[in-house]
Amino acid sequence: MNVGNDRWQVRTQRPIGYDVIKTPDLFDADNGTLLRFGRHAGGRRFVVVDGNVARLHGAAIRGWFAHNGIDARVVVFPGGEEHKNIEIYQDILRELDVFPIHRRDEPIIAIGGGVLTDVVAFVAATYRRGIPHVKVPTTLMGYIDAALGIKAGINFNGNKNRLGSFEPPAAVLLDKRFLTTLPARHLRNGVCEIVKLAVVCDAHLFALLERDGAHGIATAFQDARGDAILDAAIGGMLAELEPNLHEDELARKVDFGHSFSYGLETRHEQHLLHGEAVLLDVLVSTVLAKRRGLLADADAERVFALVERLGLAPDPGLLDADLMWQSLRDRIEHRNGRQRVPVPSAIGECVFLDDIRPRELDAAIPALHAHLKAHDEPTLERR
Ligand SMILES: NC(=O)c1ccc[n+]([C@@H]2O[C@H](COP(=O)([O-])OP(=O)(O)OC[C@H]3O[C@@H](n4cnc5c(N)ncnc54)[C@H](O)[C@@H]3O)[C@@H](O)[C@H]2O)c1
Repeated sequence: MNVGNDRWQVRTQRPIGYDVIKTPDLFDADNGTLLRFGRHAGGRRFVVVDGNVARLHGAAIRGWFAHNGIDARVVVFPGGEEHKNIEIYQDILRELDVFPIHRRDEPIIAIGGGVLTDVVAFVAATYRRGIPHVKVPTTLMGYIDAALGIKAGINFNGNKNRLGSFEPPAAVLLDKRFLTTLPARHLRNGVCEIVKLAVVCDAHLFALLERDGAHGIATAFQDARGDAILDAAIGGMLAELEPNLHEDELARKVDFGHSFSYGLETRHEQHLLHGEAVLLDVLVSTVLAKRRGLLADADAERVFALVERLGLAPDPGLLDADLMWQSLRDRIEHRNGRQRVPVPSAIGECVFLDDIRPRELDAAIPALHAHLKAHDEPTLERR
């Protein structure tokens, strides 16, 4: 629109809409959920599958496309943080570029953990300036967190998710049967993100975890008790994400556990998983809040007791004050000049801090050691 002699204004809005759909046994021959996205009569699909998922579920996935008469090009790429890089991103693009698909009605399909869905979503965001994609998370991390939102990206130059974009999917299809083959460490990794959400956003979810969390882990969340936890986690996460999909608001509750963990995850020689690093940050932040008098002692105790009950076994020996401080400095850039560190103020609630100093962080680490040690020592009843 012309608004004067020397200026035109461009203002527009594009609505975002996608569904997150629970659909058990997605690749059973008679499950038609995937058929709802894009044309299928004579259609083609570019399908990217995580290597372990292909090994364990590849026959069912290929069989489903064959059964439904869809010409699918299934390519397999490894998961794991070390593969979330520009080389894999380019390799997927090269494969895609030699398999012609319609730009609008043949969505590419990502089947894998958070690494694979983040990378494929970035491929979808950039190929031909954007093509549709469907995400099928196969890890707990993906199921309750990574696949639900619109963030896409790859690691770059030694930094996590340094290249990326916001790219809404055409749909997110949740089939929790995939969780039955997930290694226990990766199941616990996802549980760490559920704990994070519960501590600062959802007292009800926290209570569910206290009651049924250990059972959920033991049964890969396959029964009704596990379902209740997953549903609450997904609903809670989407409630936080939906009003702020593009992160216009930089003080985000879901960033709890993501202020000091960044360096622990990317730089630590122990190669912590994302959720494992987040859990350490959750506990340090809980100690910070308690030491400031923002969080009641009893609530802090509930957090430590829950982590113990779930068998998450965080190792405070991995905490490195320098790495954690560097992480926070990087987060200050990311959060546009302020710390905006979420810390719990009650179970299910949080406040944001902007004035953490290195000395306070240094003091929190031995305090956390002491807390965890106290929880390790058998109480009178447990002896
Ligand atoms: N986009 C977001 O908003 C968002 C949010 C949270 C986390 N993330 C990202 O998610 C990533 C971590 O995701 P992740 O924990 O799923 O890791 P991952 O994708 O590396 O998967 C973990 C491991 O599980 C294997 N695997 C996947 N599904 C399996 C199955 N059903 N059975 C057996 N093995 C299976 C994979 O091969 C891999 O070895 C990180 O890069 C993190 O940054 C993104």
